[in-house]
Amino acid sequence: MTTLAIIGGTGLTRMEGLTVTRREMVKTPYGAPSCPIVFGELGGRQVAFLARHGSTHRIPPHRINYCANIWALNSVGIKRIIAVGAVGGICETCSVGTVVIPDQIIDYTYARENTFFDGGNDPVEHIDFSFPYDGNLRSALIDGALATDGLNVVEQGVYGVTQGPRLETAAEIRRMAADGCTIVGMTGMPEAALAAELGLAYACCAVVVNPAAGNNGQKIDTAALTAAISTGMKSAVKVLDRTLQNTVLDVR
Ligand code: HPA
Repeated sequence: MTTLAIIGGTGLTRMEGLTVTRREMVKTPYGAPSCPIVFGELGGRQVAFLARHGSTHRIPPHRINYCANIWALNSVGIKRIIAVGAVGGICETCSVGTVVIPDQIIDYTYARENTFFDGGNDPVEHIDFSFPYDGNLRSALIDGALATDGLNVVEQGVYGVTQGPRLETAAEIRRMAADGCTIVGMTGMPEAALAAELGLAYACCAVVVNPAAGNNGQKIDTAALTAAISTGMKSAVKVLDRTLQNTVLDVR
């Protein structure tokens, strides 16, 4: 049985190279996950895969049932999650095509179901979330990214998570930059916090697919963004493949 899952984001609704052995649609107390969990083998390792936006990419970031997705993965025995996401680049080093392994999060989302500890009969619980991403998983991803030819890799960063589905204004990005954000995306939260609430190790492989709003003095070119998603996710799959071959993943 596998304990490692990959959550695929925009442009990664199915895993190229994954030898599928079975699919399971898990029932959860929080409703339906985005799609069935796919089990298979990648990079010589057993993994589970879940497409965050659904198998046909119809679920927008603010409508994803993050609670159901994380609960479902936990219920099938997953202990570690690598989350893949397309992001905008805020800092100069995060140019299009760069793979960023963030080490911090600032959450700008609202009105999302964002906790398993929602009162009721259970005592109030506050998890420590000082360092939201797992160190071992981050190291494995960094090594995997550095071992992938021709890739610009940024080994740390602050992932600012916005509500979407619209992209940001230039002023919002200036404010996020002043806050310390280096990349911006829409799905990093509450996913990371929910994983932490269930005690699951979680790390993110972010792929920069556009300069964040206002950063190059022009509107965001959505056609270029779509093309960059397709190229960027090919890089992400290579990084995952290298990462899964990495023995660091055996540490837990
Ligand atoms: N902003 C928010 N989410 C994103 C972006 C962006 O610029 N690019 C890809 N996902």
